[in-house]
Amino acid sequence: MNKKTIKDIDLKGKKVLVRCDFNVPMDENQVITDNRRIVAAIPTIKYLLENNCAVILCSHLGRPKGEFKPEFSLAPVAKELEKQLGVKVKMAKDVIGEDAKRLASNLQQGEVMLLENVRFHREETDNDENFAKELASMADIYVNDAFGAAHRAHSSTEGVAKFLPAVSGFLIEKELSFLGNAISNPERPFVAILGGAKVSDKIGVIDSLLEKVDTLIIGGGMAYTFFKAQGYEVGNSICEVDKLDLAKEAMEKAKAKGVKLLLPIDTKVGKEFKPDTESKTVSWTEIPEGWEGFDIGEKTIEMFAQELKTAKTVIWNGPLGLFEFEQFAVGTNSIAKILANLDAVTIIGGGDSAAAVEKIGLSDKMTHISTGGGASLEFLEGKKLPGIEALQDK
Ligand code: 3PG
Repeated sequence: MNKKTIKDIDLKGKKVLVRCDFNVPMDENQVITDNRRIVAAIPTIKYLLENNCAVILCSHLGRPKGEFKPEFSLAPVAKELEKQLGVKVKMAKDVIGEDAKRLASNLQQGEVMLLENVRFHREETDNDENFAKELASMADIYVNDAFGAAHRAHSSTEGVAKFLPAVSGFLIEKELSFLGNAISNPERPFVAILGGAKVSDKIGVIDSLLEKVDTLIIGGGMAYTFFKAQGYEVGNSICEVDKLDLAKEAMEKAKAKGVKLLLPIDTKVGKEFKPDTESKTVSWTEIPEGWEGFDIGEKTIEMFAQELKTAKTVIWNGPLGLFEFEQFAVGTNSIAKILANLDAVTIIGGGDSAAAVEKIGLSDKMTHISTGGGASLEFLEGKKLPGIEALQDK
C-alpha cells in the first residue's frame, strides 16, 4: 500500500480521530449479534493507546438519514468496545455538539471516547466541508480504519482528511494487503466464486475478475439470469430479464479470455419462499414452471469441489443459495467447508458470504475474511476507494 499508516507518523501524546466501521448488526433490543467489525478495529486502537494517544472514535450505524433515532445509537458499541479493550469508553451524546466537544477537549492520553452516529447529521453523507472541519477540530491526527465504509466519500471517511494529517489504521492496511495481493499477484490456479441474487450488483466485479482469474464459478440467484440468457426456462426463479445481454457478454468474454466459466448443472427448487417449502433437485435445463431455484444441487457441489481441489488462490463473494433457510443452505455451507480444507489462499468478501462462514464456525479456517461488503466488491472491481485515496501518500 502506498499510503501512510499509523506507523509512519509521530503519534506520541496526540489526540487522534479514528473513523471505524462499527456498522454491526443488532437485534430489536439493540444487542449486537455479530461483533467482528468491532474486534477487527481493536489492534489500531490498542496501538494508539500504547503510544499515549487520546483516542476519539467515530462511525456510522445503519442509515438513519440525518436524524437522531435511538435505535441507531452507537451506545451498545461503546459497551462492546469496553469489553474488548478492557478500558472505559466515554460515550458522547452527540457528534459535533457540546457534549462531544467537551469530552474531546478533556480527553487525556490513554483515554478513549466514542462520538455518536455520524449519520445523525445529513452533512455526513453530503460530505459537507464544514461538518468535516468540525470533526477535524477535535483532533490533531485523522486515522481511517473503516475499510467497510472506504467506498463512501463522506465527511468522516473522506472530507475530514483535508483538514488533518491523514493516515490509515492496521485494518485498512491488512484488508488492502490480502485483497490486493490476491488480485495482483495470485498463486495459480486462481478461482473466483461469485454468488448473490443479482447480476446487476456483480457485473462490474465479473468483468474485472475475468481479466485475472483462471476459473470463474457462478452460483446463487445470479445463475438463473445466466440460464435464461442461454434460452432456458427458469420457472419462478429470480431473473433479471433486462440483464440477459450482460450475462451473454460475460460468457463471451470468458471464452475470449480463456477463462473457465462454471455455472450450476443442477439446482434445488422450492414451491414457495418459506423455510419448510416442498423442494426437489432438478437439472438446470429442466426447472419446472411454478417452482423457484433456491440452491445449487449435489452434482454442482461435486463439480465445483473438483475444480477447487487444485486451486491455490480463491476469492469468494456472495452466497450460492438462500442460506438463511436451512434446507437451501447446503450449497453455501458445502463450499465453505471445501474452502476451509483447501491448501490455498482463501479470501472471503464481506457481507453474506462472511456471515455464512461465521455461522458454521469456519472463519478461523480462511486466510482472510473481509470486513467490507460493498467496499471489497468495489475494490475487486478495480475502483478507487475515496476513503483510501484521501490519505497521505508514503
Ligand atoms: C457496510 O455495511 O457495507 C458499510 O458499513 C457501509 O454501509 P452503507 O452501505 O450504509 O454505506
